[in-house]
Amino acid sequence: MLITFEGIDGAGKSTQIQELVHALSARSIEAVTLREPGGTAVAEKIRQILLESSHEISPIGELLLFSASRAELVQEVIVPALANGKTVILDRFFDSTTAYQGYGRGIDLELLRSIIAISTCGITPDITFYLDLEPEEAMKRKFSKTSIPLAFEGDELDRMERSGLEFYRNVRQGYLDIMHIKSERFVWINALDPVAVIHSRIIALLDERFLQNQSSYDERNAMGTSKSKKERFL
Ligand code: TYD
Repeated sequence: MLITFEGIDGAGKSTQIQELVHALSARSIEAVTLREPGGTAVAEKIRQILLESSHEISPIGELLLFSASRAELVQEVIVPALANGKTVILDRFFDSTTAYQGYGRGIDLELLRSIIAISTCGITPDITFYLDLEPEEAMKRKFSKTSIPLAFEGDELDRMERSGLEFYRNVRQGYLDIMHIKSERFVWINALDPVAVIHSRIIALLDERFLQNQSSYDERNAMGTSKSKKERFL
């Protein structure tokens, strides 16, 4: 089973992932937790290049670097984990590319679709929790509830975070559009709700959709992964 978390920076994904890992572990389900970009030796190096704020990167260069990092993670870690019936929790996946590089940077969505298909080997999440937050609120969180800096500069911001409020408004709009198109796998969550409330909702939804039949679900998933692997690599 592949569970992904999406949302703009500061929406609280990491906290919810930690809570979910604890809850799964209490049920003896050991999850593989990963984040993008990163997760393999090469992907972590690409992450450094992408987030370091001392240089500029062109939108297409940025897209290809995120995609290269993803290709490494998918082939080295995600495909084998899913084939072994593991539960994989991923902090960001290709929906981030659609929202950030498509809606944020303005790259053609058709072009993105082809590159995403190559970098993911066609793998799609079973469920995606989208933590929705207004960019202004996210920046207030980042700056510990003080005022939002107008220039988006400062040592505490990485290269992506320096992209400005308008960029983040477009990214959020991207997520909302994806949510409407992919309504069968996207779950909208109000990131302003208390951590415990969000966590309970996530567990209730997973219980309802998958966890009650965890073992049979994973068997099916593992079979499905190996069956379609050939097609995916063609
Ligand atoms: P990170 O510090 O992991 O941010 P967060 O904690 O918010 O997930 O930095 C990842 C940054 O990269 C984040 O700003 C989102 C961006 N990103 C893209 O622009 N495209 C992508 O495909 C991915 C995976 C991330």
